[in-house]
Amino acid sequence: MTAGQTIEKEFIQAFKKSETQYRRAVEAIAGGVTHDVRFMKPFPLYIENATGSRKWDADGHELIDYVMGHGSLLFGHGHGEIIDAVNQQMTRGTHYGAGHELEIEWGERIKQIVPSVDRVEFTSSGTEATMMAMRLARAFTGRDKILKFAGHFHGWHDYAMAGEQAPFNRVIPGIPKAVLDTVVVAPVNDIDFVEQQIATGEIAAVILEPSGASWASIPFPDGFLKQLREITTKHDTVLIFDEVITGFRWAPGGKQESEGVTPDMTTMAKIVAGGLPGGAVGGRSDIMELLAFKDEPNWNAEKKVSHPGTYNANPLSAVAGATCLQMAANPRVQKHADDMAARLRSGFNKVLVDENVPGFVWGESSVFHIVLGESCQNQNGGDIHIPEGVSHVRLKTGSDAKYDNALYQGMLLNGIDLFHGGGLVSSVHTEQEIDETIEAFKKTVARMREEGIFS
Ligand SMILES: Cc1ncc(COP(=O)(O)O)c(C=O)c1O
Repeated sequence: MTAGQTIEKEFIQAFKKSETQYRRAVEAIAGGVTHDVRFMKPFPLYIENATGSRKWDADGHELIDYVMGHGSLLFGHGHGEIIDAVNQQMTRGTHYGAGHELEIEWGERIKQIVPSVDRVEFTSSGTEATMMAMRLARAFTGRDKILKFAGHFHGWHDYAMAGEQAPFNRVIPGIPKAVLDTVVVAPVNDIDFVEQQIATGEIAAVILEPSGASWASIPFPDGFLKQLREITTKHDTVLIFDEVITGFRWAPGGKQESEGVTPDMTTMAKIVAGGLPGGAVGGRSDIMELLAFKDEPNWNAEKKVSHPGTYNANPLSAVAGATCLQMAANPRVQKHADDMAARLRSGFNKVLVDENVPGFVWGESSVFHIVLGESCQNQNGGDIHIPEGVSHVRLKTGSDAKYDNALYQGMLLNGIDLFHGGGLVSSVHTEQEIDETIEAFKKTVARMREEGIFS
């Protein structure tokens, strides 16, 4: 490292075209980015091309990708079978404004794979799926309140955002208090609080990421999901698993399959649509039938839950989803991605221990999270699922910005694109790529130490 040269300075020099594009973007796009999570200081990354586990940015850097379409690309970028199916469908029409066989096939595949799904209905995103699930649960039970957990993310509609980010009781601009008052935010992993709330008889549904908040960043203690299932059953409260990330990733049938706990309803997006826009809500037929048209007196005018949505199950998303799910039904797919992620988590932890740097890397299935600047009690240089002795807020929010930015930029300089202080591994990442990533992490951490970032 030459005198005065920092990771940030080097990043600015090496990613000049991204900076130029960002300057242009802020003049046209509010805030310059199209999803808050893509914002980065001093400027975000601009990508031009992607294939498999790799992508290329505006300056021509080749990067191993751990963003993976925000977790939607279980088979990597541009998987041949999905691309062929979409290309063929493109020439036959992108929107019929009518039913088509592909949506039926897509629905049948979900039903076959996901244990809780008797019937499914399509939406255009995960946000819409959780909004529909809450609406159905409210209509089914005749109760208004939804219980969710602090730190759990269910998209960005008004009912979903309560208690998502620390401090978990913060005011959220633009969301009426009357709406927030219908959402009870349970403290992280507090089963007694949940039981007390449900016992009031006011809770229509409990919704959660079954991995724990933000894809297992705050894991649930063992047995928690089973306890939740028992309590909700006892009080006729609808249990909704939001499997937008865990679905088809933790196992073909999602976390409900790997944990052996079946919710009443499941929300899906990302992998379910094979990397194209799409979502789905599925569940028990007696709840899902609230969407059906019936000949009973006043049913369609008064009781039926309405369900519009121009792009629901559009032929391109339907064919991408059906093709993807056919492949995702084979558990070898998830096993490979899980093995690669475990190798990566262990490799990163070993680097931290060897380099004597405070930090830890944890996760489940094919995801990983990184905290630098603070260690957990069970850091032993191997794989970690549940970090001990660390606050829930730290697990949710990740490293302080000074570590986070340097790590992100340092990894980019070494050819790796992380996501959200961690990442998601696909079924096409190879052992060699994981080892290259560990090597990049080693160089980045050493460089951060040299620069005095840990002192
Ligand atoms: C668990 C979970 N639920 C819901 C959503 C919202 O999905 P979408 O971005 O498709 O609206 C996300 C998105 O990341 C998610 O992770």
